[in-house]
Amino acid sequence: MNRPISTRDFVKIHEAAELLGVTEQTLRNWDRARKLKPVRHPINGYRMYRVADLHSILGELERSEAQSAFQFDAAISDDFAASVHAPDAAGLFDFDAAGNSEPPQPQRKTDADRLPPCHWSLEVALDPKHRPQQWNAPATTVRRDWRKFPQEAHVLDVTGTKYRRFSSSEVALLQGFDPQVIEIPHLTERERIGAMGDAVPPPLAQALVRGIAAQRPFSSRTAIEICAGSGGLAEGAAAIGLEHLLLVDASATCEAILKHDRPWPANSVKCSDVRKVDFMGFRGRVGLLSGGPPCQPWSRSGFRRGNEDDRDLLGSLPSIVAAIEPEAFLFENVPGLASEQNRAYLNDVIRRLRAPDRHLKYSVLIGIFNAADYGVPQIRERVFIVGLKDAPAVLVSRCFDEAESLQTYQQPGGMRVGLKRWRTIGDVLEGRADPGGWRRWIVRS
Ligand SMILES: C[S@@+](CC[C@H](N)C(=O)[O-])C[C@H]1O[C@@H](n2cnc3c(N)ncnc32)[C@H](O)[C@@H]1O
Repeated sequence: MNRPISTRDFVKIHEAAELLGVTEQTLRNWDRARKLKPVRHPINGYRMYRVADLHSILGELERSEAQSAFQFDAAISDDFAASVHAPDAAGLFDFDAAGNSEPPQPQRKTDADRLPPCHWSLEVALDPKHRPQQWNAPATTVRRDWRKFPQEAHVLDVTGTKYRRFSSSEVALLQGFDPQVIEIPHLTERERIGAMGDAVPPPLAQALVRGIAAQRPFSSRTAIEICAGSGGLAEGAAAIGLEHLLLVDASATCEAILKHDRPWPANSVKCSDVRKVDFMGFRGRVGLLSGGPPCQPWSRSGFRRGNEDDRDLLGSLPSIVAAIEPEAFLFENVPGLASEQNRAYLNDVIRRLRAPDRHLKYSVLIGIFNAADYGVPQIRERVFIVGLKDAPAVLVSRCFDEAESLQTYQQPGGMRVGLKRWRTIGDVLEGRADPGGWRRWIVRS
C-alpha cells in the first residue's frame, strides 16, 4: 500500500550519502547487493532512505571501524585504521557495478572521531532547513532566537567533521559589531546573543545613513533612535557625526548595551516603551529619526498577525514623526513586511508617513538591502523605509542609489567590477581564540 512518506522518516539519496560518508554510487551498489534497500517515493518515484535503516547501518559501520582500528592499532599505529582489509567485520564493503566487493577506502581518523557525538537526533541533524553554519560561507540570518542555540547557532569546522556553538562575541562579529559592545559583566551569554540577534549590522546602517546625508545634508546634525536595540542603526548615524539626543528601547539588556562605551552619551539612553515617550520637546531640532520597530509580527517564520499583534509599532510611527518633525527618517524591518501578504498594511503605513500631519509632507520609499553586500559575513536582507521632508521622491530614490553604490562585496560569481566576494564566517573568525565545545558531526547512533 502506498502511504505518504514523511520527510522526517525518510531522506533523499544525497543526504543519506552525506550522512554515511559514502558516495551515492556506493548506496546504489549496496541496494544491488541488498545491504541497504531504499524505498520509492509514491508520487515522484525518487529513491528515498529510511532514517531508521541509516541508523542501523551507521551502527554497523561504527562497529566495523572500531574493529579495523583495533586490528590496526595492534599491528601498526593508531593513524590509518581502514587500511586493514577486514571484509567480514560488518560485510559492508563497497560493491562495483558487477556486484564484486572491494576493500574499503582508507579512512583517516580525525580529531573529530575522538569528540563527543552529535547531540541532535538524526532527523533533526538532517533537517535541511536548520543546518549548522558552514565555515567557508556567510552565515544565514542571525536571529534573536539564536540565544536558545538552535542548529543554525552552531558552526561546522572547515573539514565539516565537527561542530560547536557560536559564542556571543562571534555572533557580534557575524552582525558586523565590535564584540566589545556586549562585553558587559552582568549580562549572560543568552542575553548578549538575544540582543545582538535583532540588530542592524552597523556597516549596512552606515551605508543607508550616508546615502540619506549625501542627498539631503542635515541642517540639524542630531538624531533620535527609537526601538534602538543594540544600536546598529544608531552606529550608522554616529559614524557620520550626528549627535544623539535620545535613544529609546524597552529592554533593560539593550539599555545596558547602549550605555556601554558607545559613541553617544550614556544619559541620552532611555529604557522605556516608545509609545509612552513625550517627543514634543524635540520638535524641529532633529535631523534624523531612525529605528527598528519590532519585526516579529512580520517575519516570514512568525505568525503574520500584522497590525493585530501587540508588538506592531509600525502603526505608531506616523504619530512619532508628527511629534518630532525630523528632516529625514529611516526605519528598518524584516523582508516579510514587503511581501504580498503584508503589502496592504505597509502601503497604509507609508501613506500615513507621507502626510503624518496636515502641514507635514514627506516623500517615502522602501528599499531592500543585504548586509552581506557591505562586508558583513551574513546573508541578512532587510527592508528600509526612508522619508525626506519637503523633498521630491526622486531624492529618496537617489538615497538608495547612493547606499547601493557603497556596496563593497557581492555574491560569489557576481559580475560587478571591483567588488569582492561575500565574506565568510571563516574570514572573520579565523585566528580568533577557539571557544571550544566541539562535538562530532554527524549523528553516529
Ligand atoms: C529589531 S530590534 C531593533 C534593532 C535596532 N534598531 C538596531 O539598529 O540594531 C527591535 C527593538 O525594539 C525594542 N522594542 C520592542 N517594543 C518596544 C517598545 N514598545 N518600546 C521601545 N522599544 C521596544 C526591542 O527591545 C528591540 O530591541
